[in-house]
This record gives sequence, structure tokens and C-alpha cells, in this order.
Amino acid sequence: MEGANTQAIIDQVKKCPSGALSFVMNEEADTIIEQSTSASITNIEILPNGPILIKTNCQISFANGDSTVKEGVTALCRCGASQNKPYCDSSHSRIGFAAD
Ligand code: FES
Repeated sequence: MEGANTQAIIDQVKKCPSGALSFVMNEEADTIIEQSTSASITNIEILPNGPILIKTNCQISFANGDSTVKEGVTALCRCGASQNKPYCDSSHSRIGFAAD
């Protein structure tokens, strides 16, 4: 991403299927957070044998007080094997995770 223009970086981050990549526009961070908390219906999908997909912008708050805003689809691990918790890194396939 080094040397890429802003739009190219945004486009690449939005293509990340797990949501592990993110960005915040310096001047627009407050606007993004406001948009992510104002949705009336949140679309969450449980994938068979896989992660939980949050299909909207969201803010992830961690136990240590840190937080991050995720745009687009975010995949959260529910198998417990991800090396990038709370995000899915596809380890569920390696361990043969099975759940409806
Ligand atoms: S659900 Fe994908 S790594 Fe855990």
C-alpha cells in the first residue's frame, strides 16, 4: 500500500473479506462513527461452519478500552482458533469447525 493513493487504499481495504483491514479518514472519523451507530437494523449472518458476519459499518470495542471502526463486512471468529481474534482468519476450515 505504500505509495498508493488514498482511494486505492480504501478500495483494497473494502475488498478484505474478513474485515481485518480497516481505515479511518483523519478528518472524518467522527462522521464514520456516527454513521455506524445510527443504523436502525443491523444485518448479522451466521455462516455454517464459519464466522459471524456483521454486514454493516460497526465499532468494535475491546476489553482494554481501545476501539476501531470497521466498514463493510466484518467477520468475527466463533470457532476460537483464529490467530487474529476477534476476527476470522479462516482457521475454522483448518480445524474442521462444525456448527449451524
Ligand atoms: S470462525 Fe473463522 S477462524 Fe474462527
